[in-house]
Amino acid sequence: MAEKPWGGRFADQTDRRVEQFTESISFDRRLFEHDIRGSIVHARMLARVGLISEAECEQIVQGLSEIRAEIADGLFHFSIEKEDIHMHIESALIARLGDVGRKLHTARSRNDQVSTDVRLWTRDAIDAIDDRLIELQRAFLHLADRHADLILPGYTHLQRAQPVLTAHYALAYVEKLARDRDRLADARRRLNLLPLGAAALAGTTLPIDRAFVAEELGFAGVAANSLDISSDRDFLVETVFCLTLIAEHLSGWAEEWILWSTQEFNFLTLPDAVCTGSSIMPQKKNPDVLELIRGRTARVVGSLQTLLVLIKGLPLAYNRDLQEDKLPLFDAVDTVTSCLELASVVVSGARLNRERIASRLDEGFLDATTLMEYLILKGVPQRTGHEVVGKLVSLCESRSCRLADLSLADFQAACPAIAEDVVHSLGVANAVKAFRSYGSTAPDQVQSQLAEWRTRLS
Ligand code: ARG
Repeated sequence: MAEKPWGGRFADQTDRRVEQFTESISFDRRLFEHDIRGSIVHARMLARVGLISEAECEQIVQGLSEIRAEIADGLFHFSIEKEDIHMHIESALIARLGDVGRKLHTARSRNDQVSTDVRLWTRDAIDAIDDRLIELQRAFLHLADRHADLILPGYTHLQRAQPVLTAHYALAYVEKLARDRDRLADARRRLNLLPLGAAALAGTTLPIDRAFVAEELGFAGVAANSLDISSDRDFLVETVFCLTLIAEHLSGWAEEWILWSTQEFNFLTLPDAVCTGSSIMPQKKNPDVLELIRGRTARVVGSLQTLLVLIKGLPLAYNRDLQEDKLPLFDAVDTVTSCLELASVVVSGARLNRERIASRLDEGFLDATTLMEYLILKGVPQRTGHEVVGKLVSLCESRSCRLADLSLADFQAACPAIAEDVVHSLGVANAVKAFRSYGSTAPDQVQSQLAEWRTRLS
């Protein structure tokens, strides 16, 4: 029984099935570096306040560093009898140092330890995902730069609506990703409080220095209520929610580009390197990467759901349910990381089919709203202008022509306020130039947004 660190009050062996059921080492071994980082600072704090000697502290730090190298090199032996990463590392230390190793867990519980480890891990994960978000923003910015002048049909309800510059389109995703970064930074700020020192749930009678530990581990402060912080997993829900929105953004974009790469749209050619073929239809080139980015969103939403249900109804302080928090966290981080990586590859490698897009811009009356706004500027009430242009559109449909093909007589028959200068509002190129509001697709607006993003992302 002695081998279990908590075995003192137990007379019988743990049932093997219980060991298998309760272990977390199969997944929480990913925390080893953060666990050791926290333990090293904890040991230094214990020495500072005199709970262990400087010499003992040096032995512990040395031992932990060796264990870290062993795990990193794949030489460390894991087994479910030792339950989790915390007990593995501690018992390896005790095996090396005997009684000195048995002092490391002074003034600490696995409850505050695991919360500290997961916070440190999540903080690093957020920073790595932020780098990927910047990379994808740059890929979209580059797409905007490659096609600054190309006009796209803008859609609402997936029906042709108004023309937009490709740069405006690409910057729409840069903005979404900027909000994603901002949200993660906000979640990071709230998670960056030190739990260690809360001990099991109530704190400790020992003279610890939590501020020192917080400072050394880069936390912005120390959690003020031991009961609260031992149970708190808000930071995981927040982080995974941020990841879910990233996945949702990627999923909408992927859907759009799947459509754009169809023969029906043919706006976009995906590089062979990101497509796969069919085992039966030799001609096929399928956008599987985009489909999987869209599909994996389901997993991330599932992780968020798992966390929300996991913490529902938990009474205060640590409950073993919380061990399950790491699986959805790791899965959401891994999934979003790889989706972001592949999204950057696709955005950088895709080719917009400029001629094909341009050759169909006359379809769909993309200039109709601009014409209506021309009428408003001539003093026609908006509702009247809307009706006039609606009738003109239907006239064009009956003649199979564009608004720009109508004669001045046709226009004036529909509305006498229309003059020769109407030509400046007709056709997609004129319609784009006519925009002027802040944040619109007006060329000078888009240019200044591009300039701003180039500076921000350089
Ligand atoms: N493996 C546990 C977890 O991940 C560590 C904390 C266990 N604490 C306890 N009192 N059994 O949550």
